[in-house]
Amino acid sequence: MSESIPAELFVLLRTARHVVVLTGAGVSAESGIPTFRNKMMGLWERYEAEELARADAFRRDRALVWGWYEWRRKLVMLAQPNPAHLAIAALAERTPRLTVITQNVDDLHERAGSRGVIHLHGEIQRPRCFACNRPFAFGPGIPDEPEGGRRLEPPRCAHCNGYIRPGVVWFGEMLPQDAWKAAAKACEACDLMFVVGTSALVHPAASLPEIAARRGVPTVQVNPNATALDDVMRFNLTGAAGEIMPRLL
Ligand code: OAD
Repeated sequence: MSESIPAELFVLLRTARHVVVLTGAGVSAESGIPTFRNKMMGLWERYEAEELARADAFRRDRALVWGWYEWRRKLVMLAQPNPAHLAIAALAERTPRLTVITQNVDDLHERAGSRGVIHLHGEIQRPRCFACNRPFAFGPGIPDEPEGGRRLEPPRCAHCNGYIRPGVVWFGEMLPQDAWKAAAKACEACDLMFVVGTSALVHPAASLPEIAARRGVPTVQVNPNATALDDVMRFNLTGAAGEIMPRLL
């Protein structure tokens, strides 16, 4: 059992009008989806996420990059929302307004019942054409994976025959501007902010808590480890999201 939760925080939760919950890979860790800073396992052991999640990697070896994302998409589809996703969705039912902003490309918040989730880094289920940007629809079911291998040729665009790329934001790319504006606006308007399971190393997402903190809004971090935000946040709850979020609920 982790530390106790300050009574003051329960009062803030009960009276908040607009709560923002910013999540990162740590919120899905207990669903079995590896975070970005962990060493990759199995077939992907000799690669780094940061070296595959980029446009130049796709240009150089699209089958390798597509194969990696299909492997990740399969993990996501086989995973289930955990008590943290469920508690965040349930919290929205008890608060006048709650905005979920996530850096995750999985759909576990939605599958837990959260609505209107802002995806800052895109969605793994929404790929698009690398050439003409048109959306591409995956077929139903769990993705194919090459037996014992890593490489998989991406499908081609029905309009321009270009290669389909994963629907995620790669390193060096701009965030989707609608998502970014909606996220910044929520942080300008909220009166309580949670930051759950993010290392807060990747900008601009990592600057969102500072928007709320600068306004004097109470900020709460939930993370088992130290992060760059420890000094920015008013409350640091040290522990797993799947344990702490249900206790807050
Ligand atoms: P990271 O992998 O950088 O950080 C995960 C965070 O989750 C760490 O701070 C862990 O301590 C914490 N954590 C681990 N298990 C947890 C648990 N059970 N409960 C709560 N927290 C836990 O992931 P992000 O911060 O999400 O970007 O990474 C941000 C972005 O960097 C990602 O969206 C991705 C990545 O490169 C792109 O792909 C553009």
